[in-house]
Amino acid sequence: KKSKIVIDRHFIIDKIDRNIYGSFVEQMGRSIYEGIYYPGSPFADEDGFRKDVIKLVSELNIPIIRYPGGNFVSGFIWEDSVGPKNERPARLELAWSTIETNEFGLNEFMDWCKKVNTKPMMAVNLGTRGIEAARNLLEYCNFEGGTYWSDLRKKHGYEKPHNIKVWCLGNEMDGDWQIGSKTAYEYGRIANETAKVMKMIDPDIKLVACGSSGRGMPTFGDWEMTVLDLAYDNIDYISLHAYYGNQANDPADYLANSMDMESFITSVIAMCDAIKGKKRSKKQINLSFDEWNVWYHTLESDKSLEKWQYISPRLEDVYNFEDALLVGSMMITLLRHCHRIKIACMAQLVNVIGPIMTSDTGAWRQTIFYPFFHASNYANGKVLNTLVYSPKYDSKNYTDVPYLDAVMVENEEKDEVVLLAVNKDLEEDMEVTCDMRQYENYEVKKHIVLYHPDLKAVNTEDNPDNVAPTIETGAKIDDGIFSAVLKKHSWNVIVLG
Ligand code: AHR
Repeated sequence: KKSKIVIDRHFIIDKIDRNIYGSFVEQMGRSIYEGIYYPGSPFADEDGFRKDVIKLVSELNIPIIRYPGGNFVSGFIWEDSVGPKNERPARLELAWSTIETNEFGLNEFMDWCKKVNTKPMMAVNLGTRGIEAARNLLEYCNFEGGTYWSDLRKKHGYEKPHNIKVWCLGNEMDGDWQIGSKTAYEYGRIANETAKVMKMIDPDIKLVACGSSGRGMPTFGDWEMTVLDLAYDNIDYISLHAYYGNQANDPADYLANSMDMESFITSVIAMCDAIKGKKRSKKQINLSFDEWNVWYHTLESDKSLEKWQYISPRLEDVYNFEDALLVGSMMITLLRHCHRIKIACMAQLVNVIGPIMTSDTGAWRQTIFYPFFHASNYANGKVLNTLVYSPKYDSKNYTDVPYLDAVMVENEEKDEVVLLAVNKDLEEDMEVTCDMRQYENYEVKKHIVLYHPDLKAVNTEDNPDNVAPTIETGAKIDDGIFSAVLKKHSWNVIVLG
């Protein structure tokens, strides 16, 4: 098959906010305990943090990491998670039915963030708690000193404020599984009042209000409109969450799910702007897609996990090659809307639906590690309005699915243009062309491919490089016309410069 891409260097979607390459670490499963923090293990550093995980997380080059939840945050008593470890209480953790020792908490997270060179995106509990706990937590984190909470931070060994600049106002408050879930009106009111108070303490913070926890929620739309209406002036972003799965084992339909993500994004943008119009406001609310990924492999098996364990291997999806293709497509979809998506967090990071897996003998990269790694490291700068003329297919749930998903990003600093592309055709390679004459003397510098003949191939502890990128030859620019062949069902990164 053949596809054509059309770009113009003056037609720019926007400059990428690097927070689009964010991630998410929830206090659950083996994400923190054993994954990030494993004192006594041969991999632990002087603070108990796994060095092998720090190395892999650093490779991903993540600018912001959301913490501590997720569902966990709706029962979070933050005061339990600070101060001398031997005085921290163990509590029943109701979101995931475990016992939380609080051995790892807020300050440990801040220390770890420094080691992986990232910034925190902290969440406040609007499930069981509210304004009071949120203001105290913010005072503890961001106030210089001379007050009860800021001095307590100093007493805990943190002289300088943590200065956390992005905060989530609760998590998935529309979901009935959420501790303290709310109606849109109840949530909109508490989110607005909490936001107002938090900004009294630190006017520089940016706040994310909960949107729907999924596009399929029955309240989707009404929820956004109500929350935006009630909290517009005090919030900065509204959140979106989406997870996809191939339960039906229908790869063509599964790979088409990026179209659902696309509709989700454009709908929420429209809702933000409808409320903006109604309010005659000059302010624009942006999108924080702060949970996105594939999640389905463990949905059934996790149901039989024993309750009230200290550490429980939950949501440990082992990702296969087709999952990496969809993750690549989702990444492209996010980038194509970078004018409004200013934060996005792949959910999650280590062991729990993560690109990184660990055992007692090491850490390795799952298949989905690679598209994120490539985008974060190669796709920086300005997203070009990338018109893709591709043949299309119909699948069970979608019509007119382009076989080729693609985006081009211009990096002025490096004098490069990077093409990210997924060929969703399960049978045939795709020849792609693009007129690059505006970029004089550009050549193909590199063509990276993630391909495996078996869509179900996985990376494991014993075979960690089963699915790994390779370098392809053959892509070229002749007389200003770029051409390349993209293997059937493959993820591609092509650097031109
Ligand atoms: O990421 C796993 C869970 O998915 C989060 O805790 C929750 O916010 C979402 O439902």
